[in-house]
Amino acid sequence: MIQASAVKKINPVAEAEHHHVRFIRDESGLDYIEIDNDLATAKIALQGAHVMSWQPKSQQHPVLWLSSNARYVPGRSIRGGIPICWPWFGAHPTDSTLCPHGFARVMPWQVVDAETLNNGATRIELQMLEPAESKRQLSYPHLLTVTITVGETLRLDLATTNKADHPFMVGEALHTYFHVSDVATIQIKGLEDTLYADKVFNYERRVETHDVQFNGEFDRVYLNTNVDCMIHDAGLNRQIRISKSGSQSTVIWNPWGEKSNQMVDMGKPDEWREMICVETANALENSVVISPGRTHTMSVEYRVESL
Ligand code: BG6
Repeated sequence: MIQASAVKKINPVAEAEHHHVRFIRDESGLDYIEIDNDLATAKIALQGAHVMSWQPKSQQHPVLWLSSNARYVPGRSIRGGIPICWPWFGAHPTDSTLCPHGFARVMPWQVVDAETLNNGATRIELQMLEPAESKRQLSYPHLLTVTITVGETLRLDLATTNKADHPFMVGEALHTYFHVSDVATIQIKGLEDTLYADKVFNYERRVETHDVQFNGEFDRVYLNTNVDCMIHDAGLNRQIRISKSGSQSTVIWNPWGEKSNQMVDMGKPDEWREMICVETANALENSVVISPGRTHTMSVEYRVESL
């Protein structure tokens, strides 16, 4: 059902023209976009421009992992899907009172454009709004938009424009939670010979020697890498290909059992086993300096391939 209060924020022309898009509001007042086109379904929360789900119609299983007890409340990030971390990644570099991973993932966003592409995919462009809280945390004038294209593949283009008269630096991540059959049996390919900082061992630096495999808590920032990564999942008979540009870091994270059980929103006791985060990022020394008037875009495209 389309509720008038939700529609008010939306370009009415776009809303009328794009029949695959539906706007809904839940009881806590959060707004969502549901997309159901010929190629795929997806759901996006306007808080955080947060993609919660995406499933191509050709696929039997969801591609993204969404915690069964994720919280849907104003000001809290949803556990699962694709949180947008911006304008810093991890802890704030100088002020530990500020929220890890920045504020974009809990800010209100608005739809500025929507269209159906010739190939049947739906393209939605959202822009972050700037309440006083975000201005307190980042005083420089800026514009942050994300364009989300939902089809047989899912693509996100996160664009930061510097509207100040001096350069500024951002750290960022599309912090994607993928659904997998069992984290202990998958491999991630593409990162051999890549330098990483291991957050489990106090950011110790090492070089990856093999396909990435998992047997305990895992939290690594792979650096200076722009290559495709593949999540090879024999249990689901599929591989998820992650192709990116404008990104020099790839972050891989699974908190494993003990830490997951201490988190209030990681779902049922063993739900963490069905998830791996592979994040397209610019983190640590790969943070990006943007000159006045310039736009930096970080993009990623996900594609499911059969094994
Ligand atoms: C990852 C970090 O990107 O996000 C981890 O590398 C962190 O250190 C994880 O624990 C989850 O962060 P949050 O703030 O969403 O709980």
